[in-house]
Amino acid sequence: MLPSFSSPVRSKWSSQFAFILVSAGAAIGLGNIWKFPYILGSRGGGTFLVLHLVFITLIALPVLLAELLMGRRGHQNIVTSIQLLSSETNASPRWQGIGWLCSITLILILSFYSVVAGWALAYLTYSWHGDLTGLSPLAIENVWQGFLANPVAMLFWHSIFILMVMGVVAKGIHQGIEKASKILIPVLFMILIMLLGYATGTGHFLEGIQYLFDIQLEKITPQTIVAAMGHAFFTLSIGAGSLLVYSSYSSKSFSLGEVAVSVVLMDFLASTLTAVSIFPILFSHGLKPETGPGLTFEILPIAFSTMEGGAFLGGLFFLLSVCAAWTSAISLAEPLVALLSERYKVKRIKATLFIGFLAWLLGILSILSFNLWKSFKIFGKWTLFVSISDFSSNILLPIGGLLIAIFTGWILHRRITREELAFQNESTYKAWRFLIRWVSPLGILIILLYPVYLFIRGYF
Ligand code: PHE
Repeated sequence: MLPSFSSPVRSKWSSQFAFILVSAGAAIGLGNIWKFPYILGSRGGGTFLVLHLVFITLIALPVLLAELLMGRRGHQNIVTSIQLLSSETNASPRWQGIGWLCSITLILILSFYSVVAGWALAYLTYSWHGDLTGLSPLAIENVWQGFLANPVAMLFWHSIFILMVMGVVAKGIHQGIEKASKILIPVLFMILIMLLGYATGTGHFLEGIQYLFDIQLEKITPQTIVAAMGHAFFTLSIGAGSLLVYSSYSSKSFSLGEVAVSVVLMDFLASTLTAVSIFPILFSHGLKPETGPGLTFEILPIAFSTMEGGAFLGGLFFLLSVCAAWTSAISLAEPLVALLSERYKVKRIKATLFIGFLAWLLGILSILSFNLWKSFKIFGKWTLFVSISDFSSNILLPIGGLLIAIFTGWILHRRITREELAFQNESTYKAWRFLIRWVSPLGILIILLYPVYLFIRGYF
């Protein structure tokens, strides 16, 4: 049975610009501020950057457009939208399974994402209280290890962050999400520009730029290729339905092509600005960006602790991380809240409380895996945090992306995709269709199968 459109007036973004801002808010997050610099650092700087750009354009952008067109055409929550699209195109209603898969991905990502955002909140307060100022590198390392060993502190910050997200989502599309993004995204770019201004004065700015644009072909390894493809999905929030649902609140008059290109550009700008700001700060303290996930919380604070005005700058950096994480986490929660409230007629407030509680509860698994359950490892290898974050980001997101690409490229009527994308130019449409039918699915299959290959070869 098809659902009826019983919700009479569905909220809409107030303008195309507002739609771009909220979508940029979904895309720009910890992936840009926390992940990008350390992946770039550990995967050969400029080489990774070039691969990242290639994959964004050839694989991620077409899927992003696919999500936008599905959402606007479906005009409902993620499951119902796909159900309606399937019926419009006479396809099996089973395709709505993509919506359920995305929902699992969303809740899993939200659970660990909020724990990491909680770290940023904690470090924001430490920096502004000056708790890290003047500490030796060893003492800073101890603060970090002490924090990870303390489940109560982590739970506290995780809870605060979940409350912040719920506070916005409960207020709905206009008063909540749009309003928050209109404040947070400009603040985010302002902070980036301030940090950049500082970085240019460190005397190591050119070194940072050089690092970022230093392309060495021999550094293109299969691992780097897979990391770059995976990150393209995560950073653009593709494969989880966040942008699909945001697009379901858009008007027919918006140009999806303009929205997609703006989001990709803003996301890329945020990532590169972060990297060119923090690398010179690291270099000026003799530190290296190649240290992996601890870069932001273990290494960068060492630089901030000894710099003049470091408490303020460190505070700014963690404020940036919190703003970015906040708008992204909102985009992880909104599709789930919309699903409950539209499909099951649960009141928005109740739906928000339920989703917030679920993410909070699941987040506790991640928290405990740093301390009390540290020795519990899945297959004797991965802690719960690593399992949840890697499984959702590296496996579920690409699977979601793959299904979305197949659905829009092979199942949906060409008429529907052409109408929704409404490109002025037929060759742009043809290029999109070629990418979504062939390049994106094949690229995604490679990301998915590579770990299997490594597993078989016994590298794991
Ligand atoms: N794009 C977000 C980031 O870069 C993460 C995210 C992934 C958000 C998937 C929503 C959906 O941090």
